[in-house]
Amino acid sequence: MTGDELCKTGINEMDKILGGGIPQGSSVLLAGSSGSGKTILCSEFIFRGASEHDEKGVYICLTEPKAKMIKNLKNFGFYDQKAVDDGDVYFLDMEVAEKLREMLLLNPSTLVRTIVDVVKDRGAKRVVIDSVTAVCNSLDDKAEIRDFIFRLGIELSPLDCTALLISEIPPREYVFSVFGVEEFISDGIVHLSDFERKGNIIRTLQVVKMRGIEHSMNKQVMQITKGGIKLMPLLDKNIPV
Ligand SMILES: Nc1ncnc2c1ncn2[C@@H]1O[C@H](COP(=O)(O)OP(=O)(O)OP(=O)(O)O)[C@@H](O)[C@H]1O
Ligand SMILES: [Mg+2]
Repeated sequence: MTGDELCKTGINEMDKILGGGIPQGSSVLLAGSSGSGKTILCSEFIFRGASEHDEKGVYICLTEPKAKMIKNLKNFGFYDQKAVDDGDVYFLDMEVAEKLREMLLLNPSTLVRTIVDVVKDRGAKRVVIDSVTAVCNSLDDKAEIRDFIFRLGIELSPLDCTALLISEIPPREYVFSVFGVEEFISDGIVHLSDFERKGNIIRTLQVVKMRGIEHSMNKQVMQITKGGIKLMPLLDKNIPV
């Protein structure tokens, strides 16, 4: 591992504000409230990785059944059935996820081992945990949560596997996690939020932290389109009316 390679998210404007991408092997918390676009953004990250950067991805879904999620994702231009059929994009279904959850109840380090084994088996360079909050809820102990995220980061980094950890937060609060420890162990934080303007809800995205790189901290207007996630600077002219 060279340590200075960047993992391009494939979401063009996001790579621009990151100065190229996320340092490879980082574990990044993606925090947002319900409906803020976490699943869509992370799915685009996984699909673009496969189609544009020849990087395999694993999506661990602990909050929504795989079939339902795929049905929704098929509405988007980045969805690629061939990548799924070829195994370049691999969704871990709820059944497997349920087993992971059972394992978690027994031992958090077994869960880390299982996730890392899946990543190694598939040769994945990208992994999403949707959501890390679901894992943390099962642990329900700050020391164990810290240990889980820390160990996961330690194991994924030498594999050059970049992780997006979805964090479920309340709407319009400047917090990044439920337990308040997740953000300190993660290498980066991307915060999704929104505000109201003339009766419209405007989505925003901000990179709050990204260890190892100089990045923009400017808030971006975020739009969910058929083509995927679009970002633009938070200027009056860019706010849809
Ligand atoms: N085809 C589409 N075009 C535009 N916007 C869409 C489309 N499909 C869904 N959306 C928007 O995306 C939102 C859902 O995004 P997503 O599933 O990524 O949210 P989430 O943050 O993962 O939510 P949760 O925490 O509940 O899982 C919907 O509420 C809707 O506003
Ligand atoms: Mg979701």
